[in-house]
Amino acid sequence: MTILVTTPNGTVGRFLTEALRDRSDVRFFVRSEASAKRLGEVSGEVFRGEITAAADVRAAVTGVDRLYLAHPFVEDQVAVETNLGLAAIGAGARRIVKLGARAFSGEGVVPDAVTGAHDTITERLRRAGVPELTVLRPDRFLQNFLPAAASIAEGTLADPAGPGARGYVDARDIAAVAVAELLAERPLGGEIEISGPQALTLSELCDRFGAVLGRPVRYVDVPLDDAWRAALVDRGVTPQVIDGLHGLYANYRHEGVAGLGDGVQRVLGRPPRSAEDFAADLLVTAAYGT
Ligand SMILES: NC(=O)c1ccc[n+]([C@@H]2O[C@H](COP(=O)([O-])OP(=O)(O)OC[C@H]3O[C@@H](n4cnc5c(N)ncnc54)[C@H](OP(=O)(O)O)[C@@H]3O)[C@@H](O)[C@H]2O)c1
Repeated sequence: MTILVTTPNGTVGRFLTEALRDRSDVRFFVRSEASAKRLGEVSGEVFRGEITAAADVRAAVTGVDRLYLAHPFVEDQVAVETNLGLAAIGAGARRIVKLGARAFSGEGVVPDAVTGAHDTITERLRRAGVPELTVLRPDRFLQNFLPAAASIAEGTLADPAGPGARGYVDARDIAAVAVAELLAERPLGGEIEISGPQALTLSELCDRFGAVLGRPVRYVDVPLDDAWRAALVDRGVTPQVIDGLHGLYANYRHEGVAGLGDGVQRVLGRPPRSAEDFAADLLVTAAYGT
């Protein structure tokens, strides 16, 4: 058996890498020497290639039975994931575990490009007839807040998702579900909704973080206005991706209270990690380096 892992340094992928580091039957797809270095020591194969190059994709999927398929939300996400997935199926892969996203529901929610990209990719994989397809549908990652750890530790969490409540989920749990689905003799398959244990507003999330950090943390709502756009342009984000993120955040703002997903309990037989677990294990270190 050969398992191909894409985005092995990604927010979710890095935890798959941790879990699969000692297996010799895993191939990690990286795009550069720097990416290969970031992986660290692995017992399996490090495949270096360009994910948009057909010849590299063909080589990467050769002999692959199982695939963890993920890609960031960028212009070519649909093409990259579809081409890689279809190439793997063509090469005889029997199982794909795809990282998707939770679907929105409720009044005021409209189709957004981020969720739409996952739906399009999933539909194409399904139509191609892969024997075993698992689509992970997680809610927002708690890890999204790590880049802002220093300002959270100073008392402010600024974010444009607004007043709604959601089941913020620890990416370690998503990776654990992905690994279980990749390695199981009989995977659960289908669509697996994944969330944290409770729906929390961002103010409630601040309270949880503050309790662990030992100081009050206040939520600051960031409007989806021209200043928000300009900040993303300054970071080099393209207009198409900004529009997609605008639609995504607008849906976060309109959904109200998001439903929870039971995927962690169903697949792993344990409850999902809490926001406090995340803060104690990862946020504190990111904030203070200890
Ligand atoms: N963030 C959330 O709250 C959330 C919630 C639900 C679903 N999702 C979904 O999660 C997916 C992203 O997963 P993730 O956060 O685990 O991944 P990620 O952290 O966004 O993945 C980034 C990794 O992909 C590699 N990468 C970036 N651009 C690339 C390119 N052009 N070509 C090849 N490799 C590239 C990079 O590898 P190197 O570092 O090795 O260069 C990087 O480590 C998205 O599809 C998103 O819709 C996200």
